[in-house]
Amino acid sequence: MAGVTEQEQPVKAEETIKPHGGVLINRLASAEDRERFLKQAEGLDKIAINKWTVSDLDLIAVGAFSPLNGFLEEADYRSVVDRMRLADGTVWSIPITLAVNSDQASKLRTGQQVALQGAEDGVLYAILEVRSIYKADQQLEAAKVFRTTDTAHPGVQKLLERPDTYVGGPVTVLNRPVPDKFQEFYFDPVETRAQFAAKGWKRVVGFQTRNPVHRAHEYIQKSAMEIVDGLFLNPLVGETKSDDISADVRMRSYLVLLENYYPQDRVFLGVFPAAMRYAGPREAIFHAMVRKNYGCTHFIVGRDHAGVGDYYGTYEAQEIFREFTAEELGITPLFFEHSFFCKKCGNMASSKTCPHDSADHLTLSGTKVRGLLRDGICPPVEFTRPEVAKVLIDGMSEQIK
Ligand code: ADX
Repeated sequence: MAGVTEQEQPVKAEETIKPHGGVLINRLASAEDRERFLKQAEGLDKIAINKWTVSDLDLIAVGAFSPLNGFLEEADYRSVVDRMRLADGTVWSIPITLAVNSDQASKLRTGQQVALQGAEDGVLYAILEVRSIYKADQQLEAAKVFRTTDTAHPGVQKLLERPDTYVGGPVTVLNRPVPDKFQEFYFDPVETRAQFAAKGWKRVVGFQTRNPVHRAHEYIQKSAMEIVDGLFLNPLVGETKSDDISADVRMRSYLVLLENYYPQDRVFLGVFPAAMRYAGPREAIFHAMVRKNYGCTHFIVGRDHAGVGDYYGTYEAQEIFREFTAEELGITPLFFEHSFFCKKCGNMASSKTCPHDSADHLTLSGTKVRGLLRDGICPPVEFTRPEVAKVLIDGMSEQIK
């Protein structure tokens, strides 16, 4: 009965998991300072930032990227690229950087303040205190972060498209991006932490996804749910590659899935408005640290987490966790083997639980599933819930129109 009692008691703040680095960063200008800073920003030199950088900026400001308080300065950047740690040794695996073209960079001086302005919408998003201006070795960054310099890799491609001069320093955010849809599923780390505490969840498992939730995803989520208090379903809705299913369609699919197959009081759906890097192992570490900031105590890492094509081995994103101690990670990774429906077992399984031959296993590639959906055909119910398939089929036909 202990579990039941725990569920009913709100969790005290001191009992929730510590953010990465110990303190939840807040770089949002306070209400009283904002007007003054906005006036000041109008008079500053401007750096134009794209949507991806706006999303990084916002995630820094609300503490999702704690302990970062701005874009990486040179010493931190080199250290992150080289050894997956900030210069002070804190685990950090993905460089969060601001790239500026060399023309603009040549006019910048350290110590100066600049305004970061949306390239598309003209919004003054933030003031950056320039502490560091440096040349990045993007070939080295690609080789270390993505484990490849192949320009066919979507993450490498994005990286090499950027200018190679980076500007680092702390930011103060004045305006936040406004989502056009599903606003009610955007929560900052302070909010998710408060939600989990109010529900009495002490052990919360985070789930990252850039895909619809198919039966394999559902299986590993529910396996994890058996041993924790709640699931934080945290789909990434920032920039993804063009052949991934849109966030809008995916959100509709998560809602029908949760409505039909999950206990409402054990799941919390909130989006992760970050861009997908497709950095496999390194991104798995990054995803885990960020979910810790959102208040998760556990994080699911399955098969080829954040991978793309054949760039990473099936379990490389799990193996990388061995390079860090449990204390420095702070969040507990839950590893799952490749899961599938086994026709002989008559249920979802993995090689850890199923003795049968792979010929008895139902596995479909992402390409195959997308093809079926595009043709208006539901994948087998053992692969995708019919309610989910219907939303995906409708979504795809809308996209084609
Ligand atoms: S990801 O790029 O966001 O990792 P995806 O949405 O497919 O891609 O995966 C979400 C999570 O589910 C990841 O941890 C991934 O490893 C895991 N996963 C996806 N498919 C399977 C599967 N068939 N078996 C086990 N784990 C899986």
